[in-house]
Amino acid sequence: MTSLQNQGAVATETFDLASYLTERAALVEAALDRSIPLVYPEKIYESMRYSLLAGGKRLRPVLCLATCELVGGTIEMAMPTACALEMIHTMSLIHDDLPAMDNDDYRRGKLTNHKVYGEDIAILAGDGLLAYAFEYIARETKGVPAERVLQVIAHLGRAVGAAGLVGGQVVDLESEGKSDVSIETLNFIHRHKTGALLEACVVSGAVLGGAGEEERQRLSRYAQNIGLAFQIVDDILDITATPEELGKTAGKDLQAQKVTYPSLWGIEESRRQAAQLIADAKAELQGYGTAAQPLQAIADFITARKN
Ligand code: FPP
Ligand code: MG
Repeated sequence: MTSLQNQGAVATETFDLASYLTERAALVEAALDRSIPLVYPEKIYESMRYSLLAGGKRLRPVLCLATCELVGGTIEMAMPTACALEMIHTMSLIHDDLPAMDNDDYRRGKLTNHKVYGEDIAILAGDGLLAYAFEYIARETKGVPAERVLQVIAHLGRAVGAAGLVGGQVVDLESEGKSDVSIETLNFIHRHKTGALLEACVVSGAVLGGAGEEERQRLSRYAQNIGLAFQIVDDILDITATPEELGKTAGKDLQAQKVTYPSLWGIEESRRQAAQLIADAKAELQGYGTAAQPLQAIADFITARKN
């Protein structure tokens, strides 16, 4: 191993992200399948499981597991939280797709929850997943000091509520149809709507694995940068990708006359900004050596992805 590789500058070249993601996503998939049994009243559990097990990259749980391992923890310590993060992500998408919000028919290549189970059950499935996520962390996390678990629950609660996802979604809905949305407002929307949960994935992994305050802050900055880059790439894909590639409707932002990064900056500048954010994110991982390969490769994957 050369010293350059140790600094992480070229480390991702020797790292097989596709195999890593496949292997970790399979672990998460199995844990998610076990997390919600089908019991009475079956209809609500079926609806919760329908969206939770509809596939997806499982990027959020994988980020949580990878960060926990990076700081010296184990996959087992972080798996209940990793599952809970996917439950919360899923519930936010079920509600986002409802007629009262984005009114979408397809998600992850399948009919949306309300299209299959009706709006009433879809709302309740989202509520059920949100409540269960917190129960699941508190009940299932083993081998971790209770104080760390409490910190994770508090951090996640804030990331999901009006100070995070909910707040970002509200400003997003308010901005729809407006042509004069500023870059500051756009950044606020995405730092909250997408960034807050991605940040919580990384920070909760760090907390569970026993990271100190300074380390948590560095990893938090890594996550905030990849979160914003993720959204910029999402906006670009909405213009450049096909519905088949996305597994959901494409061209929606244009149709809804949404202000997006490409609409403010153009596609080329948006790509450049995303690449800069990824470089900034990776700079926060200096010093971990090859242990940081998964988080570095995930950062690179965000700009390279096609869906
Ligand atoms: C997708 O955005 C939506 C989100 C990332 C989150 C939306 C948040 C809520 C509905 C709040 C949920 C409530 C709680 C308590 C967490 P998008 O519409 O830009 O992307 P899409 O094209 O994938 O739908
Ligand atoms: Mg939507």
